[in-house]
Amino acid sequence: MKDNIILIGFMGCGKSTVGKILAKKMKYTFLDTDQMIENSQHMSIYKIFQENGEDYFRQMETTTINEMIESTKKSIISTGGGLPLREENSKALQKLGFIVYLSVKKETVLNRLKGDAKRPLLAGDHVDERIERMLTYRDPIYQLAAHLKIDTDYISVEKVVEEIIRNYKIMQKRGRKS
Ligand code: S3P
Repeated sequence: MKDNIILIGFMGCGKSTVGKILAKKMKYTFLDTDQMIENSQHMSIYKIFQENGEDYFRQMETTTINEMIESTKKSIISTGGGLPLREENSKALQKLGFIVYLSVKKETVLNRLKGDAKRPLLAGDHVDERIERMLTYRDPIYQLAAHLKIDTDYISVEKVVEEIIRNYKIMQKRGRKS
């Protein structure tokens, strides 16, 4: 397995926060697929959705993740919440490294992202029901894609980081033996 850790999960699960701390601790590079897309398009995610639509953005995600397979190493990769939904993206993630699903409950998402103006999928009315629906649909997909799942609702960011490092080391040891 390649020496990268990929963080997947719903908006607000802490991928970026956890990822940055993890990268620092492990002396790995921190990468963020949303950030990479914004940089390449010179536009915010919100604007990309507005001007080009969601399908265009999803295609950018596929291109971005596939381009990373060849050369990315010793990196923590934070992914957009919808990235693993395309099967081809999940397969690409498998080639990139150790995949960690940070799971989160609806209430936590609502608390963490109250008033968020950056996420197009959380704009508009009935946010509560829409999050519920998206979480129900996505949770099994995230679970299937991941090597490790961590429930983040009641534990600190530091604890999440610690758990990831512990499991990653076990995985690396096993990988060396086989
Ligand atoms: C999305 C999540 C966002 C971003 C876009 C779509 C999603 O990333 O990619 O707004 O479909 O869940 P974060 O999970 O980093 O918020």
